[in-house]
Amino acid sequence: MSDKEKVLAKILIVDDDVGILNQLKWVLQGEYEVLIASNKEEGLRIIEEKMPELVALDVNLNGISFSDREGIEILDKIKNRFPFIKVIMITGDDSKEIALEAINKGAYDYYVKPINIEELKIIFRRALYIQNLEKENKRLTEELQGRFKFGEMVGDSPQMQNIFSLIRKVAPTDATVLVTGESGTGKELVAKAIHSLSLRRDEAFIVINCASIPENLLESELFGHEKGAFTGAHIQRKGKLEVADKGTVFLDEIGEMSLSLQVKILRFLQEKVIERVGSNTPIELDVRIIAATNQDLKERIKEGKFREDLYYRLSVININLPSLRNRKDDILLLANYFLNKYKKEVSTKTMKGFTKQAKELMLSYSWPGNVREMENRVRRALILADNSFITPSDLGFEEKRDMNIIGETIKVSLKKARCTLEIELIKKALKEAKGNISLAAKILEISRPTLYDLMKKYNISAM
Ligand SMILES: Nc1ncnc2c1ncn2[C@@H]1O[C@H](COP(=O)(O)OP(=O)(O)O)[C@@H](O)[C@H]1O
Ligand SMILES: [Mg+2]
Repeated sequence: MSDKEKVLAKILIVDDDVGILNQLKWVLQGEYEVLIASNKEEGLRIIEEKMPELVALDVNLNGISFSDREGIEILDKIKNRFPFIKVIMITGDDSKEIALEAINKGAYDYYVKPINIEELKIIFRRALYIQNLEKENKRLTEELQGRFKFGEMVGDSPQMQNIFSLIRKVAPTDATVLVTGESGTGKELVAKAIHSLSLRRDEAFIVINCASIPENLLESELFGHEKGAFTGAHIQRKGKLEVADKGTVFLDEIGEMSLSLQVKILRFLQEKVIERVGSNTPIELDVRIIAATNQDLKERIKEGKFREDLYYRLSVININLPSLRNRKDDILLLANYFLNKYKKEVSTKTMKGFTKQAKELMLSYSWPGNVREMENRVRRALILADNSFITPSDLGFEEKRDMNIIGETIKVSLKKARCTLEIELIKKALKEAKGNISLAAKILEISRPTLYDLMKKYNISAM
């Protein structure tokens, strides 16, 4: 590119002294595209129209038409609306205080008259240089964020990058996908990402949680029923599969599905038809199935709890999400992501980040509840934090769990005691049942949906 074609950076000079304007214009021409304005309104108009890189703003206490306040006002407007513009205040010797106020308000620098043009040129060049660095920095940050983010998912670890590319590959196909991984690793997000990158993206995405619906209701929930099909079936109802025709159905916690329903789902996957409960009329459907489980289905197959043929049907593609403790690269990235996502909810505080100890703890912690636990802890910390940096105790890491709730005197309410006990027992049962919700419910002698509701209430994950 020859010098003539080079796009010059724009500089706007605002001064009420026409002599100075012309002098500066004369010396700066060639190096810059020079714009001039002799009052506030004109200056602001030119800024809006031409978007200069630099603005040299005269603040002259003794000026006739251009007061010090006006200089600051222009600066405020620029910093509000075009924060990237570098403003250099030019002052008389007697208005230095204004210049300092201006720096405080975001002016890049100030220069005290009388003007030495070579000095001033150096200031302008440096301002431009710094502006370019800032732009480059912003561009790189955005580029990086693009790599870290995939739909609603963030992840920089090689494991997650692999998963993103797998999602990209399988999304446009109609293949059935089985998403596996511990609770809270993002299985539902993966299913959503697949749907939204598929050709079905404008159609329905319906989630059915096989653990939260009682077995006898799950069948009609999935397939629908005719009027009078069973007691309570007062009207005909379409099932979720039918409602999702042309779209995607996400069958969450499929490991909890009863064997008899497994047969019916298998049939649907093979023949693409359903029959409503109480009807023999086949209805043809075009629904993509994505299933998820936190159980070891192979183990369930050995136990006779899961059909092998259904397993092979479902796992045409298997996406296995790594637990958070196995992708340490993502821990602080996620922590900051949730911090930024939720800090708006507690807008009264300015949250800057995590203390060093908090970061170290997060990196060494085992995260049994994975990303969901991280999300909950950060969200809670944002509410609890007293300072602008989140501490381990804000994250709930230093809490001593006091199981000895009945001491000498009664210190807790019955309600609180019951909650504490419930949480402990549910966690124990789930641990014993290796995350199998049906089994845990059996141990606790409650129904599976009840257990599921309690887990939701207390934010307990299955594994
Ligand atoms: N990679 C991720 N990036 C951002 N948020 C995530 C990620 N993985 C999980 N989450 C969040 O964590 C929570 C649990 O995710 P979810 O998909 O419900 O997990 P799962 O279905 O495996 O139990 C959700 O609020 C989800 O938005
Ligand atoms: Mg889930």
